[in-house]
Amino acid sequence: MDEERQAFRGGRVGDPSPTSGRAWEGVIRRYRDLLPVNDTTPVVTLNEGGTPLLHAARLSERVGADVFLKIEGANPTGSFKDRGMTLAISKALEEGARAVVCASTGNTSASAAAYAARAGMTCAVLIPEGHIALGKLAQALVHGARVLQVRGNFDAALEIVRRLPDHAPVVVVNSVNPYRIDGQKSGAFEIVDALGDAPDLHCIPVGNAGNITAYWKGYCEYRAAGLATRVPRMLGFQAAGAAPIVDGHVVENPETIATAIRIGNPASWYPATAAASESGGAIAKVTDEEILAAYRLLAVEESVFSEAASAASVAGLLRTPVPAGARVVCVLTGHGLNDPDLAISQVSVPAAVDATFDAVLDALAL
Ligand code: F0G
Repeated sequence: MDEERQAFRGGRVGDPSPTSGRAWEGVIRRYRDLLPVNDTTPVVTLNEGGTPLLHAARLSERVGADVFLKIEGANPTGSFKDRGMTLAISKALEEGARAVVCASTGNTSASAAAYAARAGMTCAVLIPEGHIALGKLAQALVHGARVLQVRGNFDAALEIVRRLPDHAPVVVVNSVNPYRIDGQKSGAFEIVDALGDAPDLHCIPVGNAGNITAYWKGYCEYRAAGLATRVPRMLGFQAAGAAPIVDGHVVENPETIATAIRIGNPASWYPATAAASESGGAIAKVTDEEILAAYRLLAVEESVFSEAASAASVAGLLRTPVPAGARVVCVLTGHGLNDPDLAISQVSVPAAVDATFDAVLDALAL
């Protein structure tokens, strides 16, 4: 097997990756040397990370490039948030915290609730009333978080959350917590480990802008450590109705079908623009129609059920001129099952038939 294929099968020789004979134990143990942990840091993990990097044959053909999908919906709570939450909760525990809090469009709250429960901590979450997908709300509730619906949007909720530590013994686990970014950068490490080097282009949805910041940090650190020879151009995509970075101003009332990125004042605004400009990339916007078209295309042509916000990365790729044969990675940030209502709204309801052989044969029209 040549070196590149060997790398693609799971890390370098000697790495404690799944193919080297040792079980995957989550991102802290896998990337310990590049994370702010020491021997006494408790590791609160659900064995997150180690997600598939799937080659997308039909998408590659469409755009004339070599496209890979980083399937972050395969994380324990169904999104990339687990990469950052394992570190944020571990460090909070190390520092003696008993409670954590976050504002969330859904996935952060699901992840915080799960990891806090694992650590035996109280978890409080603030979510925008009526704008959080059912699968995410269900997770936060079943893991026992104290969930409050705020009559306002994510930005209003985050503003309140940021003030709480001044008034109560609680640690904020939104991506304003630097440990979240440090954990999430492991996604970039895994991509380089799998491909043997950084891709040419990295496409990613942008909401609160923490993830694009984290991936850029990860790629830069891997290059600095001599584990990659280059870094990719970072292409971030906001939803058109929630595109403050692209529009150059705070959006007071962000609106998009992709509720995960329904954010008008991103906390990591500056580092996200720095990632785009330093890498020679850009942050652009995609319409809800483009997002939904990419969402359906991913499901039907690539068999990947991602959530709408995730599809923004592919929607963005589809409208970007790509050098022929370029190696592209699109991050699919969350699982489609997180938002069953949206999924059902995109398809026709199955017909009901009598329970007879003939009725079924007839109706199937095979
Ligand atoms: N995709 C999904 C599925 C998300 O849940 C989020 C953010 C993003 C993309 C954008 O990532 O904020 O780092 O730019 N969700 C947050 C939450 C805001 O509360 O779950 P970002």
